[in-house]
Amino acid sequence: MCRPPLVLFAVLSALRCAPAPCAAASAPQLNTRPIIGVLSQENLPRDQFAHGISYIAACYVKYLEAAGARVVPIRINRTEEEYSKLFFSINGLLLPGGNVNLENSLFSRAAKIFYHLAVKANDAGDYFPLWGTCQGFQQLSVLTSNKNLLTLTDTRAVALPLKFTTEENVTSNFHKWSLSVQNYTRNDKLKRFYKILSTNSDGEKEFISTMEAKYYPFYAVQWHPEKSPFEWIEKSGMVHSTSAVRASFYTASFFVSEAMKSQHRFSSPEEEDAALIYNSSPVYRGREDIFVQTYYFD
Ligand SMILES: *[C@@H]1O[C@H](CO)[C@@H](O)[C@H](O)[C@H]1NC(C)=O
Ligand SMILES: *[C@@H]1O[C@H](CO)[C@@H](O)[C@H](O)[C@H]1NC(C)=O
Ligand SMILES: *[C@@H]1O[C@H](CO)[C@@H](O)[C@H](O)[C@H]1NC(C)=O
Repeated sequence: MCRPPLVLFAVLSALRCAPAPCAAASAPQLNTRPIIGVLSQENLPRDQFAHGISYIAACYVKYLEAAGARVVPIRINRTEEEYSKLFFSINGLLLPGGNVNLENSLFSRAAKIFYHLAVKANDAGDYFPLWGTCQGFQQLSVLTSNKNLLTLTDTRAVALPLKFTTEENVTSNFHKWSLSVQNYTRNDKLKRFYKILSTNSDGEKEFISTMEAKYYPFYAVQWHPEKSPFEWIEKSGMVHSTSAVRASFYTASFFVSEAMKSQHRFSSPEEEDAALIYNSSPVYRGREDIFVQTYYFD
């Protein structure tokens, strides 16, 4: 089996040296046409560009496309049956960053349905990876612990190093809530489920910046790998260095390689075509916006 614990750790550590290719011999048949769902979320308040009820920042779509996946947007107000059908059609799910309630938003409702489907599928040997970025990281922590254990930190616009790999400031941080190492350590459910891969500090509190599940292909970053190559607002914390962009592509490539282990597929090419994000066009919001381009959905 090519998947030791600390897979993502190995990927991120590879930033220091050449990546070690995984032994292909024991690898199962890979699905080289992976399709990854990206969950939409409630529109931001006072979004002058908004139409419909939900959005996906285009950077998440580009991030996955650049690593060799296609994207299906997942609307927030669908039925459980529709989500279940979609689950068995896609090869992984990305929960993006954002700003919604982690316990009673439509985003959290859909995330919860997919999370439980993913746990059940993986338990049954049906490989299905999840990726959480920023709010997605936080949502995964809430789903696993059944509690909101987050704490306010001073991390709204800072670039930080990943402690275990590099002294360089390669990660863009735009969150005010964090999962502290203290609360993680005190919560048995979180401690049993996730392994900490990296931490950071806002100067006061040490928080988890990267983690992966011990027995599931679930990965979460509190930082924003998708921003370095694809967002251009001039703001402290935005980092476009070669190392930051490389870290971004390593994480995307890692997650897409995980999705290639899933054999889920749409029941017909027509159904696949109708689901793909190519049916929507992103709206250009301007260089000085937090998102250069955004997709909107009903
Ligand atoms: C979702 O919202 C759209 C637009 O408001 C509506 O047309 C559709 O019926 C809704 N679907 C569900 C399942 O609520
Ligand atoms: C731990 O979680 C609680 C919520 O259950 C939160 O109020 C508190 O600030 C957190 N403390 C730390 C140090 O993270
Ligand atoms: C990283 O950023 C901090 C400010 O957020 C700065 O003090 C520090 O010098 C930077 N480190 C490097 C290696 O550039």
